[in-house]
Amino acid sequence: MSRRDPSQEEIALERLPKAPLNRESLRETLMFARYVQPYRARFLAGLVTLFFSATFGLAFPLLAGALIDAAMKPGGAHLPLLGALSLAQVAAVLAGSVTLQALCSFNSSLAFNRVGQSALADLRHECYQRLITLPMAFFGQRRVGELTSRVSTDIAQIEGALIDALPSICRQTVFLIGGITLIAITSGRLTLVILCTLPFLIAAAVFFGRRLRRYSRETQDQLAATNTIVEETLQAIASVKAFANEAFELKRYEAANARVLAAALGAARWRAVFVAFFILALFGGIVIVLWFGAGLLQRGEISAGELTRFVLYTTFVAGAMGQAAELFSQIQKTVGATQRVRELLREPAEATGAVAGTGLPARLRGEVSFEAVNFRYPARPEMAVLRELSLAAQPGERIALVGPSGAGKSTITALLLRFYEPESGRLLIDGRDARDYPLGWLRGQMAIVPQDVLLFGGSIAENIVYGRPGADDAAIREAARLANADDFIRGFPEGYATLVGDRGVKLSGGQRQRIAIARAILKNPAILILDEATSSLDSESEQLVQGALDRLMQGRTTFIIAHRLATVRNADKIAVIEAGRVVELGTHDELSARPDGLYRRLSSLQFGPGNPLG
Ligand SMILES: Nc1ncnc2c1ncn2[C@@H]1O[C@H](COP(=O)(O)OP(=O)(O)OP(=O)(O)O)[C@@H](O)[C@H]1O
Ligand SMILES: [Mg+2]
Repeated sequence: MSRRDPSQEEIALERLPKAPLNRESLRETLMFARYVQPYRARFLAGLVTLFFSATFGLAFPLLAGALIDAAMKPGGAHLPLLGALSLAQVAAVLAGSVTLQALCSFNSSLAFNRVGQSALADLRHECYQRLITLPMAFFGQRRVGELTSRVSTDIAQIEGALIDALPSICRQTVFLIGGITLIAITSGRLTLVILCTLPFLIAAAVFFGRRLRRYSRETQDQLAATNTIVEETLQAIASVKAFANEAFELKRYEAANARVLAAALGAARWRAVFVAFFILALFGGIVIVLWFGAGLLQRGEISAGELTRFVLYTTFVAGAMGQAAELFSQIQKTVGATQRVRELLREPAEATGAVAGTGLPARLRGEVSFEAVNFRYPARPEMAVLRELSLAAQPGERIALVGPSGAGKSTITALLLRFYEPESGRLLIDGRDARDYPLGWLRGQMAIVPQDVLLFGGSIAENIVYGRPGADDAAIREAARLANADDFIRGFPEGYATLVGDRGVKLSGGQRQRIAIARAILKNPAILILDEATSSLDSESEQLVQGALDRLMQGRTTFIIAHRLATVRNADKIAVIEAGRVVELGTHDELSARPDGLYRRLSSLQFGPGNPLG
């Protein structure tokens, strides 16, 4: 056993749950054969060469025994098919057999790896394709980090099964059956001795192995817990330091680390017992066989070559049996892994494709109407988020959504983008039910500057061009100029090629926001959604960006969500949302005039009670 810490992946693989083996689960697993299907010729070649390599391996003890017999018997060794051979001749055959075995092993290993890796590449592709097209509701109910690591661990397990376990099972089966047969041919009585002792050895090995695995799993679980602490604290290192919580985290780590040590020490005794037992059993077994065999040799019942052959076959058979338990547990894990991957592949995806709908206009006019929409998030079905919400926007209109945090403003835009479907009520776009439009096409007509802008880890230019893949540099620059981002981008030494870091961490919040605005400008949508689009900008930049946004909003229906009411004063309509309902609707002047309205209250908080109109 190596003393180095296992990697996260090894820990994950070790902790993979096993699935029961029954007809149903095995059939499901065998359906994965379709990933091997395209490479079946090569797979078959791998199997055949594997069989030959195992057969040559099986011939080794036979030839090694013959070598000794050839040296000791006056007439040379007698080999099946080849007849009587001299020492040099047997040595030549042995050398040839070993060489052929190596060549066959090379071939089968290469074939299995190639087939396995190609099939896995296909499987990974299919998994990602499925993941990325799953509806938002799916992601709300699962932790994404857990999901990705689960898929990668499951696929690694399937990889191990295809590339290691499957060839191993074939090889060991040949060794086991061939070995026992050849032992039996050599000496029936010796075979009986072996068949009587081996099961005890195997039972003991399985018993100790289980014990040991339980302890090492415990160690690895604890180790994974400590690794989680390291990961979490390093990800949020700024918070740890800002709260001066280093000592607290260190204590937390120490406690977890002590549990790792305790579990590892618990495993140590069993490991030592196991090692001692294994040595005793292996060498003891050989001693018994040798002793018994030497007796036969003494009485002249077998030759020295036969005894050699015999001892070697015994180790083959014992090795095969010893591996059986491990291989069986591999199969169980693989069945479990394939089940989970199949579950993922069975999840219904969103139909984002199919752009060729009939009678689709080139562009939406941008009329939007929510009619008595009720909605709750699938992840939290007990909480109604939108209740009987009705809201209409004419083409080109600017509608502001204001209201307390958690009122449901972002949720309205999520329904507009059809991330979720209303529970009841309707969403009409240009007078047609939103569900009548192909999803990809509909989303292509909208752009959003989201509340929390996360950029992709590439360059600034790549992030802007995401709005309209294939747009040229001039268009990118123009969009950035309109978003008031061109200046700061060109201020960077590398300009538009500047890498933004993971999720855009190398940019300030306001810079990220302006890049998101540039992206939306480039997309040129019929419906625009600005969710707190200027919240991270200073007053001066906000004014500049506001100018850009005013231009951007020309001729498009725009939903503007803002907490700073000064930003929405010029909207055509302001809808005040509270607890999932529209509680007030009107222009800034109308709403400010209502004596005890929520809008008036909110604006007097922001602009001062004496000056509700700002
Ligand atoms: N993915 C989600 N799953 C479950 N509940 C959610 C989800 N997203 C939001 N919610 C809940 O729905 C309610 C409305 O959230 P929403 O994001 O629409 O509020 P908001 O009006 O945009 O608030 P803010 O002004 O703070 O952005 C909140 O109570 C929130 O906790
Ligand atoms: Mg919001």
